[in-house]
Amino acid sequence: MILYYFSATGNTLTTAKYMKEMLEENCSIVSVSALKDVPVIDPEDNVIGFLFPIYHADMPWLFRDTIKRIRFPEDSYIFSIATFRGSPGACTLRMKALLESLGQKLSYACKIRMPGNSVMNPPEVDAELLRDQKDNIRKIIPDIENRVVQEIEGETPEPSILEAGPANLRGIKADETCIGCGTCVRVCPMNNIELKDGHAEIGNQCLTCLACFHWCPVEAIFMETPKASSRRPKYHHPDVKLPDIIKAKTL
Ligand SMILES: Cc1cc2nc3c(=O)[nH]c(=O)nc-3n(C[C@H](O)[C@H](O)[C@H](O)COP(=O)(O)O)c2cc1C
Ligand code: SF4
Ligand code: SF4
Repeated sequence: MILYYFSATGNTLTTAKYMKEMLEENCSIVSVSALKDVPVIDPEDNVIGFLFPIYHADMPWLFRDTIKRIRFPEDSYIFSIATFRGSPGACTLRMKALLESLGQKLSYACKIRMPGNSVMNPPEVDAELLRDQKDNIRKIIPDIENRVVQEIEGETPEPSILEAGPANLRGIKADETCIGCGTCVRVCPMNNIELKDGHAEIGNQCLTCLACFHWCPVEAIFMETPKASSRRPKYHHPDVKLPDIIKAKTL
């Protein structure tokens, strides 16, 4: 089994890691950030899981782009697991439609509610979600091991705002408190940040993943919109550290 994942603050990365620990079968975990420039991806297994955070009721742009570059083995069993804060929207139907456009079938899909890295949940809700994460994953393991096929029905939604391509939808910027440490450059999955005269400049290939925002050590990065989240408290999953996110670009 191969689990392809994307993660900016660790909710999805830990979900993949915990799944691997719980599964009886062999499983490899592959970061889609590390495949950003690979033109054709050949999975070495036909049991394929897609694990991603929900953005705007869809998958991150890079995730969609990665799936389009996969050459699926014959008779692939494909499932998806999305992590989300509170409103998953039609992400499963979007994944189903994408796979159908590539001649593939989404056999199984589930969503795991986790702390929000954009809009925030009350702290007590987040604490409970973190506490329940492993139990929620454990519940779906038998379905995946038994290759359960669900009927996934519903009208394909209109394309989301993310399908148009990378865009800095939140107006992410570094302010004058930037110390030029380069952490944001190292975590950005799109290599979309440059240091110019010791100050971080955001380019136009942004996924709005907020990795730079959450991992900046001096809170120099802020969002112009929405105002309510502009300087929200930093978040990352307690079992994930900065090197895990940096490594995801090369593993
Ligand atoms: C730009 C952006 C948009 C988001 N949109 C949604 C959304 O539409 N619905 C939702 O429930 N959560 C949304 N979230 C929250 C994330 O899906 C959630 O916190 C996820 O678990 C983060 O995963 P990660 O820690 O692996 O990066 C959004 C997060 C970001 C950064
Ligand atoms: S992580 Fe923060 S302080 Fe470091 S270069 Fe980026 S914006 Fe500046
Ligand atoms: S600039 Fe920041 S928000 Fe945009 S892709 Fe890079 S790390 Fe993510």
